[in-house]
Amino acid sequence: MKLQTVQGTPLSPYLVEIRRRLHRHPELAFREEKTAALVRRELDRLQIPHRPLAGTGIRAELHGRQAPAEPGAGRPCLALRADMDGLPIQEQTGLSFASEHPGLMHACGHDGHTAMLLGAAHLLWARDFSGKVVLLFQPAEEAGNGAGRMVEEGGLDQVELIFAGHIDTHIPTRTFTVDSGLICSSADPFAIRIRGRGAHASRPHEAIDAVVLASTLVVQIQTLVSRAINPSHAAVVTVGRLRAGTVLNAIAEEALLEGTIRSAHPQARTALRQGLERLIQGVEAMGCAGIELEYLPGLPAVINDERAAAIARSAALRLVGREGVRRQEAPSLGSEDFALYQQEVPGCLVRFGARLSGDPAGPAHSGRYDFDEQVLEQGAAWLAQVARQGLLHLEGSTERR
Ligand code: NI
Repeated sequence: MKLQTVQGTPLSPYLVEIRRRLHRHPELAFREEKTAALVRRELDRLQIPHRPLAGTGIRAELHGRQAPAEPGAGRPCLALRADMDGLPIQEQTGLSFASEHPGLMHACGHDGHTAMLLGAAHLLWARDFSGKVVLLFQPAEEAGNGAGRMVEEGGLDQVELIFAGHIDTHIPTRTFTVDSGLICSSADPFAIRIRGRGAHASRPHEAIDAVVLASTLVVQIQTLVSRAINPSHAAVVTVGRLRAGTVLNAIAEEALLEGTIRSAHPQARTALRQGLERLIQGVEAMGCAGIELEYLPGLPAVINDERAAAIARSAALRLVGREGVRRQEAPSLGSEDFALYQQEVPGCLVRFGARLSGDPAGPAHSGRYDFDEQVLEQGAAWLAQVARQGLLHLEGSTERR
């Protein structure tokens, strides 16, 4: 590919420069102020109108210059989405453009996604299409509610279709995965509060030990997936945080367990919720303690629309041919808040292959994460291509008139 910016310079180095600038300065969910400032500056340079949304988010609009194919046909509108937030992770890559902020890192490729969407703005800038392309730069994908706020505040106004991609270092560069149906699981975060009775460490008979009950529960939870779920349904329950007690010589009065239930199958999701409730009742009875279970706002599964997936696949085929377009082998048990847009309009999330050759980098959400920067140009090209093809599809579809 030899794609160019609006200024006539090669696109790829521009994208690498943007990505590295963002990588040096990662920002956490809803605090993407410098990131958003950079995005606004680049959009201003292209004279693309935009407005703030969801705190640090941005909605920009590119209006096509072409008249609709048929007079009187409605103007189609679709959205492309990038996420902008980093993670509270200490970078350990030793890269020349590593994070300059201790404990903060772009460890999921969102720096790349932001650069790609700016790249797509350059590629669509000539506006040689009919209709409107909405560019959504969203905050807080990792925290899970950036997309929700974008939707609440009108991010999808007039939008009829939505597309996005996520960098994936498990698959080679110049490869896309495109699937219809379920590709990312639902995620139900939970918190379990155990209230026992505190006492001196030497007098357990006067206490209800929250540490022992919490430990029992953590071990019991390990049997949920193995014993309560159909082995052919993907599911996982993880307790990611456990807090109890205040001092080593006292029996803890309270404990807090927090985790997530993830599943790629609705039956498994229900069975896990019911199983967790049963275990809690059992441990509560066993320990004479009070145990409360609370489900926190979670995310539905990412389910790609069949028509949107066909458009996404066709755009990918145009860029990399048949050998570069694959299917995901199995649904991921990671969640993606792109699912919240798909609750409103049909959409498709694809994966952009970006495996580094030679020394493999660390996995996403690790301090050693990195990706092949050649993906930036491919992602930008796909976003622009899918927008053109999606608009043509919308214009041609009779349903919308
Ligand atoms: Ni991500």
